[in-house]
Amino acid sequence: MNKKRVFSGVQPTGNLHLGNYLGAIKNFVDLQNKFECIYCVVDLHAITNHHNPKELKSNILETIATFIASGLSEEKNIIFNQASVSAHSELAWIFNCVARIGWMNRMTQFKEKAGVNKENASVGLLVYPNLMAADILIYKATHVPVGEDQKQHLELTRDIAKKFNNDFKCEDFFPIVEPVIPKEISRIMSLRDGKKKMSKSEESDYSRINLKDDKDLINQKIQKAKTDNGPVPSDLNELKNRPEVSNIISIYANINNIKVSQVLSEFGGKNFSTFKSKLSESLIEKICPIGQEIKKLLKDEVYLNGILEKGAKRADLIAKTNIKEIYKILGLTKYS
Ligand code: TYM
Repeated sequence: MNKKRVFSGVQPTGNLHLGNYLGAIKNFVDLQNKFECIYCVVDLHAITNHHNPKELKSNILETIATFIASGLSEEKNIIFNQASVSAHSELAWIFNCVARIGWMNRMTQFKEKAGVNKENASVGLLVYPNLMAADILIYKATHVPVGEDQKQHLELTRDIAKKFNNDFKCEDFFPIVEPVIPKEISRIMSLRDGKKKMSKSEESDYSRINLKDDKDLINQKIQKAKTDNGPVPSDLNELKNRPEVSNIISIYANINNIKVSQVLSEFGGKNFSTFKSKLSESLIEKICPIGQEIKKLLKDEVYLNGILEKGAKRADLIAKTNIKEIYKILGLTKYS
């Protein structure tokens, strides 16, 4: 059986936010001491929507800077960008032929991203999850740390792996991946609307905490974060039907590595302005040093490009070995 290997990816959208950090990157950092980990800037996914080439280039470097500033070691982990290892695209094409159209049509993220004019979305956006499955399975990764919004894509990855193993009679060739999703807070919500996930695409910057926000801005955003008229609840049951309250309490718990129940026993019955001041303090303490480090690292493009180059070489070695085997299984003659 395959040994444990972690893979995850982040799109270079520029200005990563608290959702990316708590949902994914913080977990990447924890896992680096336990497993062999591969972390990728998924630049090919970023072109499934209209993009600006100049911005993409700088966003790739900013994502790498964010990885390093958050505490990922370039030595312990393989850190690279997707487009530099061509086996991702080769396997994605193969998976386009394994996955079924009906599977793609069920993907909720496609429906959300394509919007009302589905016919006008790129084909790349539709088959985006096949490239994601290829990212993971080209390394035969077994564990994938992500936020909850990616769970359906990982279920699809499992289906693709099973179908491939079954169709080509190569039992256990691709592992059936396990999602690693934070338990207490798997989906960070918008600070303006607790039913929408925190995202770069929401118009108001006050809906999210960006990792590069300074102290004053974090303070303002938290003070303005939507709550309701009640006090901070004392009991888990009182969080039901209070999405905005539930969200900021979970953020406080996660950023301080404590349980939601502990937050409720500390702040239950108090007013929100007391709680919000404490939340701002915690965020400023944890997030501002990351933002400052990102800004510092961005001044050293040679260093950041060096990380990408070294990472790509290491990733390519594993990916090449596996793509050769995959071609052989399929009867393709490129490597025979
Ligand atoms: P992306 O770039 O949108 O997000 C990167 C990671 O951040 C998590 N995330 C969140 N978690 C909690 N709450 C939020 N509001 C929030 N917003 C973002 C995402 O779940 C993700 O873990 N398709 C992926 C990238 C990808 C990938 C992969 C991931 C491509 N190939 C292979 C894992 C394995 C995406 O668009 O994530």
